[in-house]
Amino acid sequence: MMKVALIGLGSVGRGVAGMIQKKDLGITITGIADSKSGAMDPAGLDIASLLANKGRNGSCGDREISASDVIKKADYDALIEVTPTNALSGEPAIGYIKSALLRKKHVVTSNKGPVALAYKELRALAEKNGVALRYEATVAGAIPIMHTLEHGLLGNEILALYGVLNGTCNYILTRMAAEGLTYEQALMEAREMGYAEADPTYDVMGIDAAIKLVILANSVWGDSKQLSDVDRTGIDLLTPDALRLAADLGCTIRLIAEAIPRKHILRVSPRILEKNHPLVVDGTLNALTLETDMAKEITLIGRGAGSIETASAIIGDLLYINDRYVHRA
Ligand code: HSE
Repeated sequence: MMKVALIGLGSVGRGVAGMIQKKDLGITITGIADSKSGAMDPAGLDIASLLANKGRNGSCGDREISASDVIKKADYDALIEVTPTNALSGEPAIGYIKSALLRKKHVVTSNKGPVALAYKELRALAEKNGVALRYEATVAGAIPIMHTLEHGLLGNEILALYGVLNGTCNYILTRMAAEGLTYEQALMEAREMGYAEADPTYDVMGIDAAIKLVILANSVWGDSKQLSDVDRTGIDLLTPDALRLAADLGCTIRLIAEAIPRKHILRVSPRILEKNHPLVVDGTLNALTLETDMAKEITLIGRGAGSIETASAIIGDLLYINDRYVHRA
Protein backbone atom coordinates (compact mmCIF):
# COMPACT_ATOMS: atom_id res chain seq x y z
CA MET A 1 0.00 0.00 0.00
CA MET A 2 1.35 3.42 -0.95
CA LYS A 3 0.96 5.94 1.89
CA VAL A 4 0.16 9.56 1.04
CA ALA A 5 -0.27 12.83 2.91
CA LEU A 6 -2.83 15.20 1.40
CA ILE A 7 -2.39 18.95 1.98
CA GLY A 8 -5.31 21.08 0.82
CA LEU A 9 -8.99 20.18 0.93
CA GLY A 10 -10.52 22.52 -1.61
CA SER A 11 -12.19 21.29 -4.77
CA VAL A 12 -9.09 19.36 -5.97
CA GLY A 13 -8.18 17.91 -2.56
CA ARG A 14 -11.71 16.64 -1.98
CA GLY A 15 -11.72 15.09 -5.46
CA VAL A 16 -8.45 13.26 -4.77
CA ALA A 17 -9.61 12.07 -1.33
CA GLY A 18 -12.93 10.92 -2.75
CA MET A 19 -11.35 8.93 -5.58
CA ILE A 20 -8.75 7.29 -3.29
CA GLN A 21 -11.60 6.30 -1.01
CA LYS A 22 -13.85 5.06 -3.81
CA LYS A 23 -11.42 3.24 -6.09
CA ASP A 24 -9.19 0.34 -5.16
CA LEU A 25 -5.91 2.04 -6.10
CA GLY A 26 -3.55 0.63 -3.47
CA ILE A 27 -3.23 4.10 -1.92
CA THR A 28 -3.98 4.98 1.70
CA ILE A 29 -4.12 8.48 3.22
CA THR A 30 -2.08 8.63 6.44
CA GLY A 31 -1.95 12.42 6.84
CA ILE A 32 -4.34 15.20 5.86
CA ALA A 33 -4.52 18.95 6.42
CA ASP A 34 -6.64 21.90 5.37
CA SER A 35 -5.86 25.55 6.13
CA LYS A 36 -7.07 25.24 9.74
CA SER A 37 -6.42 21.70 10.95
CA GLY A 38 -4.79 18.35 10.39
CA ALA A 39 -4.90 14.64 11.20
CA MET A 40 -2.41 11.75 11.06
CA ASP A 41 -2.62 7.99 11.45
CA PRO A 42 0.07 5.63 10.08
CA ALA A 43 -2.56 2.90 9.73
CA GLY A 44 -4.73 5.09 7.46
CA LEU A 45 -7.29 7.78 8.22
CA ASP A 46 -11.07 7.52 8.07
CA ILE A 47 -11.48 9.91 5.15
CA ALA A 48 -15.29 9.82 5.08
CA SER A 49 -15.53 11.08 8.64
CA LEU A 50 -12.81 13.75 8.11
CA LEU A 51 -14.64 15.04 5.01
CA ALA A 52 -17.91 15.04 6.98
CA ASN A 53 -16.18 17.12 9.70
CA LYS A 54 -15.03 19.54 7.02
CA GLY A 55 -18.59 19.88 5.73
CA ARG A 56 -19.96 20.40 9.25
CA ASN A 57 -17.52 22.83 10.83
CA GLY A 58 -15.13 23.96 8.09
CA SER A 59 -12.10 22.01 9.31
CA CYS A 60 -11.28 18.35 8.78
CA GLY A 61 -9.18 17.48 11.82
CA ASP A 62 -7.48 18.72 14.96
CA ARG A 63 -6.93 22.50 15.07
CA GLU A 64 -3.71 21.92 17.05
CA ILE A 65 -2.20 20.11 14.02
CA SER A 66 -1.00 22.24 11.08
CA ALA A 67 -0.16 21.35 7.49
CA SER A 68 3.55 21.71 8.37
CA ASP A 69 3.14 19.26 11.27
CA VAL A 70 1.59 16.70 8.93
CA ILE A 71 4.34 17.17 6.31
CA LYS A 72 7.12 16.90 8.88
CA LYS A 73 5.73 14.14 11.11
CA ALA A 74 3.27 11.90 9.26
CA ASP A 75 4.30 8.49 7.92
CA TYR A 76 3.94 8.68 4.10
CA ASP A 77 5.69 7.89 0.80
CA ALA A 78 4.34 10.83 -1.23
CA LEU A 79 3.02 14.26 -0.43
CA ILE A 80 0.01 15.49 -2.43
CA GLU A 81 0.19 19.28 -2.35
CA VAL A 82 -3.04 20.87 -3.62
CA THR A 83 -3.29 24.20 -1.82
CA PRO A 84 -4.37 27.32 -3.79
CA THR A 85 -1.88 28.88 -6.21
CA ASN A 86 0.01 31.98 -5.15
CA ALA A 87 1.63 33.24 -8.35
CA LEU A 88 3.70 35.94 -6.65
CA SER A 89 5.50 34.10 -3.85
CA GLY A 90 4.52 30.46 -4.42
CA GLU A 91 4.14 30.18 -0.65
CA PRO A 92 3.30 28.44 1.56
CA ALA A 93 3.44 25.63 -1.02
CA ILE A 94 7.16 26.01 -1.88
CA GLY A 95 7.99 25.58 1.80
CA TYR A 96 5.69 22.54 2.08
CA ILE A 97 7.25 20.89 -0.96
CA LYS A 98 10.83 21.54 0.18
CA SER A 99 10.05 20.18 3.60
CA ALA A 100 8.74 16.91 2.12
CA LEU A 101 11.62 16.57 -0.37
CA LEU A 102 14.14 17.06 2.44
CA ARG A 103 12.46 14.11 4.21
CA LYS A 104 13.03 12.12 0.99
CA LYS A 105 9.32 12.00 0.25
CA HIS A 106 7.99 12.09 -3.32
CA VAL A 107 5.81 15.09 -4.18
CA VAL A 108 2.83 15.40 -6.50
CA THR A 109 1.32 18.84 -6.88
CA SER A 110 -1.43 20.65 -8.78
CA ASN A 111 -0.09 23.95 -7.48
CA LYS A 112 1.15 26.15 -10.30
CA GLY A 113 2.96 28.73 -8.13
CA PRO A 114 5.86 26.54 -6.97
CA VAL A 115 6.38 24.94 -10.38
CA ALA A 116 6.34 28.25 -12.26
CA LEU A 117 8.52 30.08 -9.73
CA ALA A 118 10.94 27.52 -8.36
CA TYR A 119 10.95 24.49 -10.65
CA LYS A 120 14.72 24.23 -11.14
CA GLU A 121 15.47 24.56 -7.44
CA LEU A 122 12.74 22.07 -6.45
CA ARG A 123 13.76 19.57 -9.12
CA ALA A 124 17.39 19.76 -8.00
CA LEU A 125 16.29 19.15 -4.41
CA ALA A 126 14.19 16.16 -5.49
CA GLU A 127 17.11 14.71 -7.47
CA LYS A 128 19.51 15.25 -4.58
CA ASN A 129 17.15 13.34 -2.29
CA GLY A 130 16.45 10.57 -4.79
CA VAL A 131 12.72 11.25 -5.02
CA ALA A 132 10.25 12.38 -7.69
CA LEU A 133 8.53 15.73 -8.12
CA ARG A 134 5.58 15.46 -10.49
CA TYR A 135 3.10 18.12 -11.57
CA GLU A 136 0.88 16.76 -14.37
CA ALA A 137 -2.17 18.43 -12.79
CA THR A 138 -0.70 21.93 -13.05
CA VAL A 139 -1.31 22.17 -16.80
CA ALA A 140 -4.48 21.35 -18.74
CA GLY A 141 -6.30 19.42 -16.01
CA ALA A 142 -6.95 15.82 -17.00
CA ILE A 143 -4.94 15.95 -20.26
CA PRO A 144 -1.77 13.84 -19.77
CA ILE A 145 0.45 16.46 -21.36
CA MET A 146 3.54 15.86 -19.21
CA HIS A 147 3.37 12.09 -19.68
CA THR A 148 2.94 12.64 -23.42
CA LEU A 149 5.98 14.91 -23.58
CA GLU A 150 8.09 12.63 -21.35
CA HIS A 151 7.17 9.31 -22.90
CA GLY A 152 4.95 9.37 -25.99
CA LEU A 153 6.95 11.99 -27.87
CA LEU A 154 10.43 10.96 -26.75
CA GLY A 155 12.95 11.73 -29.48
CA ASN A 156 10.82 14.45 -31.01
CA GLU A 157 11.90 18.05 -31.03
CA ILE A 158 9.04 20.27 -29.85
CA LEU A 159 9.07 23.29 -32.15
CA ALA A 160 6.08 25.21 -30.78
CA LEU A 161 2.93 24.78 -28.74
CA TYR A 162 -0.46 26.47 -28.85
CA GLY A 163 -3.46 25.93 -26.70
CA VAL A 164 -6.50 26.71 -24.65
CA LEU A 165 -5.16 26.31 -21.12
CA ASN A 166 -7.80 27.92 -18.93
CA GLY A 167 -11.09 26.09 -18.46
CA THR A 168 -12.80 28.99 -16.71
CA CYS A 169 -12.19 31.45 -19.57
CA ASN A 170 -13.21 28.84 -22.11
CA TYR A 171 -16.40 28.15 -20.15
CA ILE A 172 -17.18 31.88 -19.95
CA LEU A 173 -16.55 32.46 -23.68
CA THR A 174 -18.66 29.42 -24.61
CA ARG A 175 -21.57 30.42 -22.37
CA MET A 176 -21.48 34.05 -23.51
CA ALA A 177 -21.51 33.07 -27.20
CA ALA A 178 -24.03 30.21 -26.95
CA GLU A 179 -26.45 31.45 -24.31
CA GLY A 180 -25.91 35.20 -24.48
CA LEU A 181 -24.94 35.29 -20.79
CA THR A 182 -23.12 38.34 -19.54
CA TYR A 183 -19.49 37.99 -18.56
CA GLU A 184 -20.44 38.32 -14.85
CA GLN A 185 -23.16 35.63 -15.05
CA ALA A 186 -20.85 33.20 -16.82
CA LEU A 187 -18.02 33.83 -14.34
CA MET A 188 -20.39 33.26 -11.43
CA GLU A 189 -21.40 29.91 -12.91
CA ALA A 190 -17.77 28.90 -13.39
CA ARG A 191 -17.04 29.76 -9.76
CA GLU A 192 -20.06 27.87 -8.48
CA MET A 193 -18.98 24.78 -10.39
CA GLY A 194 -15.51 24.89 -8.83
CA TYR A 195 -13.60 25.60 -12.05
CA ALA A 196 -12.24 29.03 -11.16
CA GLU A 197 -9.17 29.71 -9.06
CA ALA A 198 -9.66 30.80 -5.43
CA ASP A 199 -8.94 34.27 -6.84
CA PRO A 200 -10.76 34.25 -10.22
CA THR A 201 -8.87 37.30 -11.50
CA TYR A 202 -6.07 34.76 -12.13
CA ASP A 203 -8.36 33.11 -14.66
CA VAL A 204 -9.97 36.05 -16.45
CA MET A 205 -6.84 38.19 -16.68
CA GLY A 206 -4.96 35.36 -18.37
CA ILE A 207 -2.58 34.89 -15.42
CA ASP A 208 -3.50 31.22 -14.92
CA ALA A 209 -2.98 30.45 -18.62
CA ALA A 210 0.30 32.40 -18.58
CA ILE A 211 1.59 30.44 -15.57
CA LYS A 212 0.75 27.19 -17.34
CA LEU A 213 2.56 28.42 -20.44
CA VAL A 214 5.65 29.18 -18.32
CA ILE A 215 5.49 25.68 -16.78
CA LEU A 216 5.23 24.11 -20.24
CA ALA A 217 8.03 26.23 -21.75
CA ASN A 218 10.35 25.52 -18.84
CA SER A 219 9.57 21.80 -18.97
CA VAL A 220 9.86 21.44 -22.73
CA TRP A 221 12.83 23.68 -23.46
CA GLY A 222 14.56 23.79 -20.05
CA ASP A 223 14.01 27.56 -20.03
CA SER A 224 13.86 29.76 -16.95
CA LYS A 225 10.89 31.82 -18.07
CA GLN A 226 8.79 33.75 -15.58
CA LEU A 227 5.25 35.05 -15.56
CA SER A 228 6.57 38.53 -16.42
CA ASP A 229 8.09 37.14 -19.66
CA VAL A 230 4.60 36.35 -21.00
CA ASP A 231 2.95 38.95 -23.22
CA ARG A 232 -0.53 38.71 -21.62
CA THR A 233 -4.06 39.93 -22.33
CA GLY A 234 -7.08 38.41 -20.55
CA ILE A 235 -10.77 38.18 -21.39
CA ASP A 236 -11.86 40.57 -18.64
CA LEU A 237 -12.39 43.45 -21.06
CA LEU A 238 -14.05 41.41 -23.81
CA THR A 239 -17.59 42.55 -24.63
CA PRO A 240 -20.58 40.53 -25.91
CA ASP A 241 -20.33 42.78 -29.01
CA ALA A 242 -16.89 41.41 -29.82
CA LEU A 243 -18.26 37.86 -29.61
CA ARG A 244 -21.23 38.79 -31.83
CA LEU A 245 -18.89 40.38 -34.37
CA ALA A 246 -16.77 37.22 -34.45
CA ALA A 247 -19.94 35.11 -34.89
CA ASP A 248 -21.02 37.27 -37.83
CA LEU A 249 -17.74 36.29 -39.50
CA GLY A 250 -18.38 32.57 -38.83
CA CYS A 251 -15.74 32.68 -36.11
CA THR A 252 -15.49 32.70 -32.36
CA ILE A 253 -13.07 33.93 -29.70
CA ARG A 254 -10.80 31.78 -27.54
CA LEU A 255 -8.04 32.67 -25.07
CA ILE A 256 -4.95 31.18 -26.70
CA ALA A 257 -1.59 30.56 -25.07
CA GLU A 258 1.33 30.12 -27.46
CA ALA A 259 5.04 29.50 -27.23
CA ILE A 260 7.04 29.73 -30.44
CA PRO A 261 10.77 29.91 -29.58
CA ARG A 262 11.92 30.48 -33.17
CA LYS A 263 9.87 33.70 -33.22
CA HIS A 264 10.55 34.59 -29.56
CA ILE A 265 6.80 34.45 -28.85
CA LEU A 266 5.45 33.66 -25.39
CA ARG A 267 1.93 35.03 -25.37
CA VAL A 268 -1.60 34.68 -23.97
CA SER A 269 -4.34 36.63 -25.74
CA PRO A 270 -7.95 36.38 -26.97
CA ARG A 271 -7.91 35.32 -30.63
CA ILE A 272 -10.55 35.15 -33.34
CA LEU A 273 -10.62 31.59 -34.71
CA GLU A 274 -12.77 29.85 -37.29
CA LYS A 275 -15.35 27.66 -35.59
CA ASN A 276 -13.84 24.47 -37.03
CA HIS A 277 -10.30 25.27 -35.82
CA PRO A 278 -8.94 22.37 -33.70
CA LEU A 279 -8.44 24.68 -30.72
CA VAL A 280 -12.09 25.76 -30.68
CA VAL A 281 -13.33 23.52 -27.89
CA ASP A 282 -16.32 24.18 -25.65
CA GLY A 283 -16.96 24.55 -21.94
CA THR A 284 -14.13 23.62 -19.59
CA LEU A 285 -12.31 21.67 -22.26
CA ASN A 286 -8.66 22.51 -22.85
CA ALA A 287 -6.84 21.84 -26.12
CA LEU A 288 -3.14 21.83 -26.82
CA THR A 289 -1.40 21.51 -30.19
CA LEU A 290 2.24 20.45 -30.13
CA GLU A 291 4.23 21.15 -33.28
CA THR A 292 7.03 18.59 -33.50
CA ASP A 293 9.70 17.59 -36.03
CA MET A 294 8.79 13.90 -36.43
CA ALA A 295 5.17 13.52 -35.30
CA LYS A 296 4.27 16.92 -36.86
CA GLU A 297 1.13 18.37 -35.20
CA ILE A 298 -0.55 16.57 -32.32
CA THR A 299 -3.62 18.04 -30.64
CA LEU A 300 -4.75 16.80 -27.24
CA ILE A 301 -8.22 17.71 -25.98
CA GLY A 302 -9.69 17.06 -22.55
CA ARG A 303 -11.23 18.51 -19.42
CA GLY A 304 -9.04 21.33 -18.17
CA ALA A 305 -10.65 21.97 -14.82
CA GLY A 306 -12.85 20.24 -12.28
CA SER A 307 -12.39 18.32 -9.10
CA ILE A 308 -12.38 14.72 -10.37
CA GLU A 309 -10.71 15.62 -13.67
CA THR A 310 -7.76 17.17 -11.82
CA ALA A 311 -7.74 14.22 -9.43
CA SER A 312 -7.21 12.02 -12.50
CA ALA A 313 -3.89 13.76 -13.25
CA ILE A 314 -2.77 13.59 -9.62
CA ILE A 315 -3.63 9.92 -9.25
CA GLY A 316 -1.80 9.17 -12.53
CA ASP A 317 1.32 10.79 -11.09
CA LEU A 318 0.97 8.92 -7.79
CA LEU A 319 0.58 5.54 -9.45
CA TYR A 320 3.51 6.30 -11.76
CA ILE A 321 5.66 7.04 -8.70
CA ASN A 322 4.36 3.94 -6.93
CA ASP A 323 5.29 1.80 -9.92
CA ARG A 324 8.65 3.43 -10.54
CA TYR A 325 9.94 4.00 -7.00
CA VAL A 326 7.82 2.89 -4.04
CA HIS A 327 6.68 -0.49 -5.28
CA ARG A 328 10.22 -1.47 -6.25
CA ALA A 329 11.82 -0.33 -3.01
N1 HSE B 1 -8.91 27.68 -12.78
C1 HSE B 1 -8.24 26.74 -13.63
C2 HSE B 1 -8.94 26.72 -14.96
C3 HSE B 1 -8.26 25.40 -12.98
O1 HSE B 1 -10.05 27.25 -15.04
O2 HSE B 1 -8.39 26.22 -15.93
C4 HSE B 1 -7.37 24.39 -13.61
O3 HSE B 1 -6.01 24.76 -13.57
